[in-house]
Amino acid sequence: MLDITFAKPALPRSGALALLVCEGEKPNGLWQQADEATGGAITRAFDAAEFKGAKGKTCSILAPGAGLSRVLAIGLGKPAEITQRSLEEAGGTAAAALTRETAASFGTNGLTSEQAAQVALGAALRAYRFDRYRTKEKADEKPKLRKVTVLAADPAQAKLAWEPLQGIANGVFLTRDLVTEPPNVLNPAEMADRCRKLTELGLKVEIFGPKELAKLGFGALLGVSQGSSNEPRMVVMQWHGAASGGKPGNGKKNHRDKPVAFIGKGVTFDTGGISIKPAGGMEDMKWDMAGAGAVIGLMAALAGRKAKVDAVGLVGLVENMPSGTAQRPGDVVKSYSGQTIEVINTDAEGRLVLADVIWYAQQKFDPKFMVDLATLTGAIIVGLGHEYCGMFSNDDALVQKLTAAGQATNEKVWRMPLDEAYDKLIKSHIADMKNIGGRPAGSITAAQFIQRFVNGKPWVHLDIAGMAWSSKDAPCIPQGATAYGVRLLDRLVADHFEV
Ligand code: BES
Ligand code: MN
Ligand code: ZN
Repeated sequence: MLDITFAKPALPRSGALALLVCEGEKPNGLWQQADEATGGAITRAFDAAEFKGAKGKTCSILAPGAGLSRVLAIGLGKPAEITQRSLEEAGGTAAAALTRETAASFGTNGLTSEQAAQVALGAALRAYRFDRYRTKEKADEKPKLRKVTVLAADPAQAKLAWEPLQGIANGVFLTRDLVTEPPNVLNPAEMADRCRKLTELGLKVEIFGPKELAKLGFGALLGVSQGSSNEPRMVVMQWHGAASGGKPGNGKKNHRDKPVAFIGKGVTFDTGGISIKPAGGMEDMKWDMAGAGAVIGLMAALAGRKAKVDAVGLVGLVENMPSGTAQRPGDVVKSYSGQTIEVINTDAEGRLVLADVIWYAQQKFDPKFMVDLATLTGAIIVGLGHEYCGMFSNDDALVQKLTAAGQATNEKVWRMPLDEAYDKLIKSHIADMKNIGGRPAGSITAAQFIQRFVNGKPWVHLDIAGMAWSSKDAPCIPQGATAYGVRLLDRLVADHFEV
């Protein structure tokens, strides 16, 4: 994580200065000071580059004088159009443009403490990098930016505003780390071990192995994992922040309300099983655990910012492999709910894992609502691409809240239909249902399947197959694992479910 501090606006004597400039603004504050100290170099560069502060536009001036290595101006657009998102993006854009600097000051003339913290969040999120397995990268290829000072009128207040955002950033980083790890390292047992570490944040963490899962009767989840020599796990993470004002352990029992529940698909590698996938691009299936990764990062974020909520996160962790012990197309498994499933295609495994974990979640915790996240279908990518995740729900109020949270965090959701009429597509001749419905409406039949395990509870299914991984950089997300879902659901909780 970038080392982030806050200080009163003052022209740095060395290093880089990022100037956040509004459209139509006259030189003022730090901008004016920098211009005077450099004999008008800033004004001349802005004129030459026709930089006027339009949103997302930048102007980089190397060695303008006054000891500065670089001045980078970032346009914020019109003052009235500044939002949390545009400030985060300005911070992210600046961090990306200044990777060759070791330290930089981000000038936030006229910004509030809250806004300064948002700039810091964007910078931190964009500066993320996963370099565990690089041993040969030369120093001049590595990003050097370590320290960012965000300049704010009230640095102490800005630091206070930054604290919860830092908790969210740490949750996002945990998710990105998990999703990026290679599948030989991050098998179900290793992923569960990383969940166990969250006890340090005050979470209660329970881990179920194959024996416990068999005893419970998780036939659907176990059918998926039976082809792999890597054992399955289910992890249940609890955060009790509601009755205790964010401090775990001293909650008053009678204040306990129903918890909110988040459930993640955690297929640490999806070969398809006996219904094996084609070779091209199969390496992408290391991130078939991104739903579980998001749930884990979300729980870390809620604990990290001491959210005043009772939340439970459950993840089903398996590897889907072909082998002599693998399940076959045609097998019938009995799920934890008692319902039987004919497995027509072993590559439709995520819904089998979710079926058992979701049934467990509602039986055990009677939650206020459940949200599941899963890289469930290629069909949702055909439908929505990489801009919106597919959202399916039996609860209109939750849909509204999530839609707003999606706009606020730029983790956007788009509602897709559920309808009994689709149920005929997953009718089996010998069991209660089959696990695929054929090509038409592939994402919807998957959601209809999952709905059979929610027992009528308020529920949202997020198909994040198109969102978990990004092939290109975005202002606050470097290419790779996006941690989609962490900020969305943190925001849902923050806006509606904290005491
Ligand atoms: N994990 C995949 C879905 C997926 C595909 C995620 C591409 C991310 C990118 C899932 O388990 C799967 O294989 N789904 C099948 C379902 C089909 C067999 C009904 C699919 O989408 O092809
Ligand atoms: Mn699959
Ligand atoms: Zn899968």
